[in-house]
Amino acid sequence: MKLSANAIQLLEARYFLKNTEGRIVESPEQLFRRVAKHIASVEEDKDFWENRFYNLMAHLHFLPNSPTLMNAGLPNGQLSACFVLPVEDSLEGIFSTLKDMALIHQSGGGTGYNFSKLRPQGDRVSASGGTSSGPLAFIKVYDTATEQVRQGGKRRGANMGILNVDHPDIEAFITAKSKGDELQNFNLSVGILDDFMRAVQNDETWNLINPRNNKVTKTIRAKELWDLIISQAWATGDPGLIFLDTINKHNPLPKLGKIQSTNPCGEVPLFEYESCNLGSLNLSKMVKHENGIWQVDWKTLEHCVQVSMRFLDNVISANHYLLSQIETATKNNRKVGLGLMGWAELLAILEIPYASDKAVEMGEKIMRFIQAKSYETSEALAKERGAFPNWEESVFSPKTPLRNATCNSIAPTGSISVIADTSYSIEPFYALAYKRVGILENETQLEINPVFVSKMKKLGLWNESLKNEVLSTGSIQHLVTLPSEVRKLFETSLEIPWQYHLQHQRAFQKYTDNAVSKTINLSHETDTDTISEIYRTAWEYGLKGITVYRDGSKANQVLQACQLN
Ligand code: CDP
Repeated sequence: MKLSANAIQLLEARYFLKNTEGRIVESPEQLFRRVAKHIASVEEDKDFWENRFYNLMAHLHFLPNSPTLMNAGLPNGQLSACFVLPVEDSLEGIFSTLKDMALIHQSGGGTGYNFSKLRPQGDRVSASGGTSSGPLAFIKVYDTATEQVRQGGKRRGANMGILNVDHPDIEAFITAKSKGDELQNFNLSVGILDDFMRAVQNDETWNLINPRNNKVTKTIRAKELWDLIISQAWATGDPGLIFLDTINKHNPLPKLGKIQSTNPCGEVPLFEYESCNLGSLNLSKMVKHENGIWQVDWKTLEHCVQVSMRFLDNVISANHYLLSQIETATKNNRKVGLGLMGWAELLAILEIPYASDKAVEMGEKIMRFIQAKSYETSEALAKERGAFPNWEESVFSPKTPLRNATCNSIAPTGSISVIADTSYSIEPFYALAYKRVGILENETQLEINPVFVSKMKKLGLWNESLKNEVLSTGSIQHLVTLPSEVRKLFETSLEIPWQYHLQHQRAFQKYTDNAVSKTINLSHETDTDTISEIYRTAWEYGLKGITVYRDGSKANQVLQACQLN
């Protein structure tokens, strides 16, 4: 098995089993064997499936989310990355969820919550005759607790905090990170309603409503609130937006109620107490060289989708659940999220520039295929094992029995793409050479993109001076002697117009039943009008959420989308 030096280093720090003295007692082969064996333990033909699952991972064709790699096969191994928990308007509710959060973080999972049920700051508290601290105060409590609980002793937990746009404390929420170093363990998103977007467009007023008694506490200009969101996103990257009405328009189980939150990076909208396990196909491996050109290997891709979907469905049965409520909610809907990584690398292999209509069309084609094959597999699994228990309540009834209420999510793949040695998720290359900071503490790794090097070698353009240029600048756009099509092919994240970032997100969202996690990376010079246009366009495109990051706008810039590693 061939793994990169970075991959080995990351595995050693966080994934391989260690004995009581802290010595590593596992090789990469043994890690994948441990995972494959555990996930196949729910099968009748265990050996057959163990080998299939092992091969899938050992070829780096697919990797499950980190908790599965870390914990499968261990006693009480918790395997899911994504959870949503309720936050009720009572001290008891708030602190019982805080405890559940700590347990989930300790196991390697991330948690999302919508704080909108909490009465606003200064509101009446009848039990004590005093006044309420409000959602912000409790978000800070959750943040502090997160700081102290390391995930499985390996990394810090991640949270999504949502407050709806009509909550009385929304202004304080929007500006919560303005000091820069606060709430570092939270992604904050405003829960957006379509009515608000229309009120902004028509420059109308907007009511803030106390959730305790449904009384209007304040009426403001929608546009003013919007401008506050935009100026904060420009300054700090937070808040992002979560489009709640769009999410609920696509909710496969509307009879169970409205979805109010997503997991930390936004790729999985979930009911309270639901969890979801993710896995990602490595697109850079789904290629074949035929008739002198590189092409997508659709057959291998189809096979990998089928085995991966079975893998993810097995995770639900082989999982250890920390709370009975989570077990019930998760097993009733059996949501999984099969996504992908290595999109930019695939495009480079196919010689299609990221910032091109051809790439966007290709994105739609690939995701349409992955979704169709995922649903076919889920249908076949339903025939074999039965539909998910809530199926009759779902939009799929009475026509199509499915094993899983959702099949696809596009996660950031912050760690597993390092293990697979490919580009993150659907993101463009961040730079052609860069230091990867933050994956491991106190560790920086200098890397030159290997696809770029091999392409340059093939064209006879690789030499010491090019290498030094790329090492010092991370880009080739200023090297005007290089052929323009080569420069176009290797444009990096900040060199790609935001319109193409967004079009890629739209292309993949179109065929993803859950959501797509993506960061629209922007140059330092980007102005607030552009951020406003991006956020508005995201809503018009029917995206489920949107996050921007303007270069240099956070003190501690981690390389990639998921600012949480
Ligand atoms: O690559 P990996 O499987 O580690 O994770 P990812 O694709 O970057 O993130 C997927 C999900 O894992 C996130 O949306 C979070 O729910 C969770 N996560 C977390 O809990 N803590 C982190 N430090 C990173 C991710």
